[in-house]
Amino acid sequence: MSAPLLIRYKREVAPKLEVVPAASLLEIDHLVVEFKTREGILRAVNDVSLSLQSGQILAILGESGSGKSMLLRTILGIQAPAARVSGEVRMRGVNLIGLPASEREHIRGSWVSMVFQNPMTALDPVYTVEDQIVETVLRHTTITRAEAKARALDLLQLVHIPSPQERLKAYPFELSGGMRQRIVIAMALACNPSLLLADEPTTALDVTVQARVLRLLRDLQRELGMSVIIVTHDVGVAAEIADEVAVMYAGRIVEAGPVATILREPRHPYTRGLLQANVRPRQTERPEAIPGSPPNLARLPRGCSFAPRCAVAEDRCWAGMPELRTVSPGHQLRCVQS
Ligand SMILES: Nc1ncnc2c1ncn2[C@@H]1O[C@H](COP(=O)(O)OP(=O)(O)O)[C@@H](O)[C@H]1O
Ligand code: SF4
Ligand SMILES: [Mg+2]
Repeated sequence: MSAPLLIRYKREVAPKLEVVPAASLLEIDHLVVEFKTREGILRAVNDVSLSLQSGQILAILGESGSGKSMLLRTILGIQAPAARVSGEVRMRGVNLIGLPASEREHIRGSWVSMVFQNPMTALDPVYTVEDQIVETVLRHTTITRAEAKARALDLLQLVHIPSPQERLKAYPFELSGGMRQRIVIAMALACNPSLLLADEPTTALDVTVQARVLRLLRDLQRELGMSVIIVTHDVGVAAEIADEVAVMYAGRIVEAGPVATILREPRHPYTRGLLQANVRPRQTERPEAIPGSPPNLARLPRGCSFAPRCAVAEDRCWAGMPELRTVSPGHQLRCVQS
């Protein structure tokens, strides 16, 4: 395993930003990402606050359309031009929201990088694996091309690609799905990020490959000491690798806490529904899906966004949005019931 990867290339281009001591690696405060639509204001991310310590893995769970990808893209700073963003995303005490594009560009790769859901969209079909990794490294560091090539080889070894010398010369279409996602992970690690964002990194892969890629991510996190935020709609993924879990519904965090607490003692009806729907079915059993479908974010009900689908909703649930409150150390819940 290439332990020297972290120390061999010192000439990273460090962002010229004043890093201030901060309690957590990442602190998100009252983040809102909204769009003007014909139906009204759509808040894809609605008042999200969370923090992540160095070396932690946070899993964000939720159905499609709950704002998970939007949250990650905002942390990475690749937002649709029409998006209006408010609140703060602080990394090492530096607020990334509103930073000039050039500084964001430095931060991407070296502070934070992302593994997208579909490896084919992250890879360019007309370049070899080596060219793609080398270009990524050269864009973010001042090392020479020869050093970047050596680093590409290190990275392939790091993500356990067999016959890495040969694979460096391959084009993406010559590789299996699992292998391509490993290459994408290698590229995301190319500049030693402190924070890796992974947006449903295994969804496009078949089940046996999924498990291997997940284990790889967990091992890399331990070995490199990174923090990871992994977005998934699969509770099993969270159970396998996360330290902390945040459950998102309609743009908001509805429950968050340590993985064991959330998976063993879920308090929010939506979290409970997700867990039930995710239970691996026996032959005759079908997982129980949550009734109804996620709401139109531009037309949310006045009270709790989950009320129209909630089996235990009461009158007071429709009166106003419940606050996210701490119900036990580290466990937060947005529900009127206790
Ligand atoms: N450019 C955009 N303009 C308006 N709404 C958008 C735009 N991009 C995404 N959305 C909306 O933001 C919401 C959250 O999307 P997303 O973050 O992709 O959800 P998830 O990743 O949880 O499936 C969705 O309702 C989606 O329709
Ligand atoms: S606040 Fe009410 S409607 Fe919302 S999840 Fe809790 S019980 Fe259900
Ligand atoms: Mg998504």
